[in-house]
Amino acid sequence: MTKVVLTYGTFDLFHVGHLRLLKRLRGLGDRLIVGVSTDEFNRSKGKQTIIGFPERIEILQNVGCVDLAIPESSWDQKVEDIHTHGVSIFGMGDDWTGKFDHLSEDCEVVYLPRTEGVSSTDLKRMLKILDRSHVADLKKALDLIGSIVERFD
Ligand code: CTP
Repeated sequence: MTKVVLTYGTFDLFHVGHLRLLKRLRGLGDRLIVGVSTDEFNRSKGKQTIIGFPERIEILQNVGCVDLAIPESSWDQKVEDIHTHGVSIFGMGDDWTGKFDHLSEDCEVVYLPRTEGVSSTDLKRMLKILDRSHVADLKKALDLIGSIVERFD
């Protein structure tokens, strides 16, 4: 019988931590389904992404180890998805340990170790820092141009 694995996430600014988790989850079975959080669902959680839902799900649909990407639009859809897709294993990174234990009535639940040192939140923080230093560089360049122009007054 085909062993189906299911996971969910936002997958904003898709990075190697996401990829490694998906590859390991796919390795637990024959087919991997990924639920991608919609923008509306994220808004309801107070989460804002850089990349919009249509692009995020397009990336997931084209990751080699992912067989199917579906929208995740509510907390409650998991049990229905498990039954609709004949899921044997539900898996998430271990930052979610314990949060989905109730699903063990419907299938096996696993939490795999996260990849250290990378997260979408960190990438967003870094973009902000870079952005600030970029503004500072622009200011310096403008000051320099101003001082050169003054010489010709
Ligand atoms: N994940 C992982 N290793 C990382 C980052 C994420 O294994 N370094 C896993 C999470 O545990 C989750 C899945 O990837 O099961 C999707 O996580 P998501 O929340 O979309 O990614 P994060 O980078 O953790 O985003 P954020 O920092 O916004 O929580």
